[in-house]
Amino acid sequence: MKLVAATGNLNKLREFREILIGFEIVSAADAGFLSEVEETGKTFSENAFLKARAVCRATGLPALADDSGLCVEALGGAPGVYSARYAAKFAPADWRAGNRAFLLRQMEGIENRRAWFTCAVALCFPDGRELSAEGRAYGSILHENRGTGGFGYDPVFLSDDLGVTFAEASEEEKNRVSHRGRALAALKELL
Ligand code: IMP
Repeated sequence: MKLVAATGNLNKLREFREILIGFEIVSAADAGFLSEVEETGKTFSENAFLKARAVCRATGLPALADDSGLCVEALGGAPGVYSARYAAKFAPADWRAGNRAFLLRQMEGIENRRAWFTCAVALCFPDGRELSAEGRAYGSILHENRGTGGFGYDPVFLSDDLGVTFAEASEEEKNRVSHRGRALAALKELL
């Protein structure tokens, strides 16, 4: 089965292909979809469906999308759906310091460091059928960066499953326990 991945992110595309073996996965750009879909949803799932539906409608092919982010218990689930633009949205004056530095500043003096990554995946078919799944990875937020791998919040996220940060883990180790890996595995079961 051919699926269009509603993402321009090559890391995600590679992960989709590694996990959904047996499916031919092409990028949205390769399927002729070049626009950006605005992520206006209030939940990860809403945003994943916004992207998957738009790409499915435009290409006439089954479309797969994901939306993910970091949720910190002591911050009421923030940065959540704003993970990618956390500092830009809430500290526009000094957003250049970056999301991770901003998060650590927000958590100064906070003892409860519990956090989890969430990923929602949505798959939309041209005949209107829709499937979705969610995956989580639990851990805690460190006080400083550890490790050089991964991206985004990985260096400050100490994984419960691995005992090291996602930035210290190899790609295979991270994929095995990551929110995205788990969401895709659950979607595969549904398929
Ligand atoms: P999106 O799913 O492409 O909208 O990305 C959401 C944002 O959440 C990213 O820009 C990162 O800041 C954060 N994020 C999502 N997954 C991960 C991960 O596996 N490691 C580190 N940060 C992540």
